[in-house]
Amino acid sequence: MGKGTVDFSKYFQPPNLKEAKKRGKEETRVLDFDTIPDDMKNIGEGKFYLLKTYGCQMNVHDSETIAGILENMGYRPTEDEHQADIILFNTCAIRENAEDKVFGELGHMKPLKREKPDLILGVCGCMSQEESVVNKILQKFQYVDLIFGTHNIHRLPVLLRDALYSKEMVVEVWSKEGDIVENMPKVRQDGLKAWVNIMYGCDKFCTYCIVPYTRGKERSRQPGDVLAEIRELARKGYKEVTLLGQNVNAYGKDFQDQHYDFADLMNDVHKIDIPRVRFTTSHPRDFDDRLIEVLAQGGNLVEHIHLPVQSGSSEVLKRMARKYTREHYLELVEKIKKAIPNVSLTTDIIVGFPGETEEQFQETLSLVEEVQYDSAFTFIYSPRHGTPAAKMEDNVSEEEKKDRLQRLMDLQNEISRKKNEALKGQVVEVLVEGESKNNPDVLSGRTRTNKLVNFKGPKSCIGQFVDVKITEPQTWTLKGEAVVKTHV
Ligand code: 5AD
Ligand code: SF4
Repeated sequence: MGKGTVDFSKYFQPPNLKEAKKRGKEETRVLDFDTIPDDMKNIGEGKFYLLKTYGCQMNVHDSETIAGILENMGYRPTEDEHQADIILFNTCAIRENAEDKVFGELGHMKPLKREKPDLILGVCGCMSQEESVVNKILQKFQYVDLIFGTHNIHRLPVLLRDALYSKEMVVEVWSKEGDIVENMPKVRQDGLKAWVNIMYGCDKFCTYCIVPYTRGKERSRQPGDVLAEIRELARKGYKEVTLLGQNVNAYGKDFQDQHYDFADLMNDVHKIDIPRVRFTTSHPRDFDDRLIEVLAQGGNLVEHIHLPVQSGSSEVLKRMARKYTREHYLELVEKIKKAIPNVSLTTDIIVGFPGETEEQFQETLSLVEEVQYDSAFTFIYSPRHGTPAAKMEDNVSEEEKKDRLQRLMDLQNEISRKKNEALKGQVVEVLVEGESKNNPDVLSGRTRTNKLVNFKGPKSCIGQFVDVKITEPQTWTLKGEAVVKTHV
């Protein structure tokens, strides 16, 4: 039997979008990562892997786990497609263009695969959770060797063995999502900043969004496991952690045996001796007063909040099933600004949601004007197969959507520039990450509010906190000069 003509039912329980919404509150199982099977422990000696990562920080962090598993089998990383023995695409499904990019790159792999038939070509991440994507790969990209889902990462050693020894395409995508697997190996990208998962999945079911289907139901890691991971990172000298979840404000709501929520977690993290703690992403609906109070303590809890609004129109928000109104959002912003006076707020906005009128779009512009975000990620709505919004009538033309996006970006850029201008002459604390991308003579790092700062200074500053005086603010970056501390 050749590739693409396999009986997939033995591997593949296709994601069922209708069933996903009915998922229950069954208890989350916390499993320990099985050690790598003996016959796979050294299988990668002298071999190389190439991991291509798309999408959000969650995917970036999953790639660190995938790298950890592969390196535990002896594989080494490479950037060179011709050197690689395994190439994995860790994919994103959030918008159509993210998917198109992956299909394009998969197409480019065909000649390489012909040249090197032993190359293992794999697809994982959010796209592999979509039945339509898996079917497309089966039909059009039959030279793919391995597809595995977001709930199957811990199974990689076994799946890789199947892919190496079988002539069939190996497909394993669990739509079952009840487990948390602890103690998976990880190769973190740098020794300075680290991602830490606090929860997985999302139960919000915003009508435009594919994530509740690709990432499964909300399940929180045990507080003890999260805190132990952060303490260990602090011990190893990490300077910053970013707590990750699709909806961090729902942390702990799935615990059946304890009352412990995101505010409790942040309060405990506040006591850990690590200089900076961030989190992403917040949902305005669950952002409560207690959390604001905890964040207002400052210290290692930095004054930056990413608070996706999506639209400034209560009518559109209702159709998006965001479960808050424009007024509720603005009230929340006011509360946050009052409690944390120098807070930096950033957001995500979608334009051209089905049926969005010019007046409703104007409400988004006026909200942006009122909140004065430091920056915003702005997107044109992209229908996602199986989501409720994909079935809504869409009478806004493509041209109109592009025009709205442009108007929104113009407004936001003006605000970003103005906010950065206000920093001129101020001294900010910068965690220096390395040389600037464009100029090795310039160092680059981030403020507590996550703004990128470029300045001249000795290489010995890398990995350190440096006070920098802002001299030339720009729209997206700040230029400055290191402030030399004089000791009397
Ligand atoms: N179309 C366009 N943008 C989307 N986002 C999520 N789903 C879609 C979609 N179908 C945006 C939201 C979200 C961000 C991560 O991506 O703004 O906050
Ligand atoms: Fe993309 Fe969402 Fe998956 Fe992240 S969780 S990779 S944004 S689809």
